[in-house]
Amino acid sequence: MKQTYQKPVINKHRSGLMNKFGWSPVYARKIRTEIDGVPIDRLVEQFGSPLFVYSERAARRKYRRMFNAFSTRYPNVVFGWSYKTNYLQAICALMHQEGALAEVVSAMEYDKARALGVPGERIIFNGPHKSLPVLERAVAEGATVNIDHLDEIVDLELVARKLGRPVTVGLRLNLDAGIYPQWSRFGFNLESGQALAAVKRLAFGKLLRLNGLHCHLGTFILDPQAYARQVQKMVAFGYEVEQAFGFAIEQLDVGGGLPSQIRLKGTYLPPDVAVPEVDEYAEAIAQALSHALRPGDHPRLIIESGRGIIDEAGWLISTIIGAKRLADGTRAYVADAGINLLFTSFWYKFNVELDRQVGGIDETSVIYGPLCMNIDVTDEGIPLPPLKRGHRLIFSPVGAYNNTQWLQFIEYRPNVVLVTETGEVELIREAEDLSDILRRERLPRRLALKPAGATPGEGS
Ligand SMILES: Cc1ncc(COP(=O)(O)O)c(C=O)c1O
Repeated sequence: MKQTYQKPVINKHRSGLMNKFGWSPVYARKIRTEIDGVPIDRLVEQFGSPLFVYSERAARRKYRRMFNAFSTRYPNVVFGWSYKTNYLQAICALMHQEGALAEVVSAMEYDKARALGVPGERIIFNGPHKSLPVLERAVAEGATVNIDHLDEIVDLELVARKLGRPVTVGLRLNLDAGIYPQWSRFGFNLESGQALAAVKRLAFGKLLRLNGLHCHLGTFILDPQAYARQVQKMVAFGYEVEQAFGFAIEQLDVGGGLPSQIRLKGTYLPPDVAVPEVDEYAEAIAQALSHALRPGDHPRLIIESGRGIIDEAGWLISTIIGAKRLADGTRAYVADAGINLLFTSFWYKFNVELDRQVGGIDETSVIYGPLCMNIDVTDEGIPLPPLKRGHRLIFSPVGAYNNTQWLQFIEYRPNVVLVTETGEVELIREAEDLSDILRRERLPRRLALKPAGATPGEGS
């Protein structure tokens, strides 16, 4: 059989990491022909490319794995599903079926949870922006409201007056748990005395009753002991306010922040080395609670893990639409998905898998997305064999923060599907078309290019 000509390339020698097992796995070519048993080809044939694919099995499995890690170590645990991480209805519904409360940070997210059928008492309302109308609604419906700043205390007092009854609230703290740079923009700072002053103000008003503390250290926290320090400080503060003002703290919300299995840009170690097991986080938190709490005290522990649960349940299938060489000789590919769909590409060095074996020598290549923007790069240096139009790249993990932070910019947003535990494929978000883009726009009549009723092309 006649063989196709393959252009010779000269590759700079790269020794990679010294490793007694030989070639660093980073350079091994990764092939993925299916997701949960459903062939990539079939998925694209039916739903197009690019395509977000979620695995129900992976999502439920990870949820249960995490929940077991905590609930086997502490008797009073509940998860709050962080809507901002992924508020596709199907994903939220799945988390609620598993038992999670809704954790929302805006009126839009609150509306979304309610529209899905989550009762107010099963909603935790965080975030710096809660308008008076949504605060009124949330309080009336029994949501847990965690106060972010002093003006919100005043707002909640207005709500309490209007309702003619005291309102139970939570307080968001920020504190030094050894994670730097320290997140201090949300809630009240503990070490400076700000948090205690806020409780004092709250008690003075006599309209609000504090029963919960909240603190979210940040995201992708790689040190489980940071949570131990956080919990110890939260419990100590809880007892302090109980003694000073008589408020009994019934819930401790430690936020989210658990990492997923992915390499962050700029980090040296691969995720299987750098990312601790979920049991290590659960152990650190449970141990700290058992040391800090008085015997017999078991306030409700709330975990708002987002990324750690859903990230690895999501993939993005994309297709090569062109190959090129840059002026300096670098091989580059243009794919039909870029930063418009993969917001997390700013931090993640994704796993990029091919849908088939491709012959030829690997070259360090760049992957561009479809945007006519220089910043649209999803990988700046990945060893890839010579790819052609139609070959597919599968990015993972993409389940966290992409389907919420994706941009309707230049391109339509594509279909999102869920592979069920029995292998069916369900459409959970339909691809956009022009009607989605135009629906909210209003073109002043005087600017219309064609008279009303004219067929396209008739305007002058
Ligand atoms: C208050 C709060 N809880 C939970 C989360 C989820 O965080 P992660 O995805 O890091 O677990 C966030 C994310 O920013 C948050 O702000």
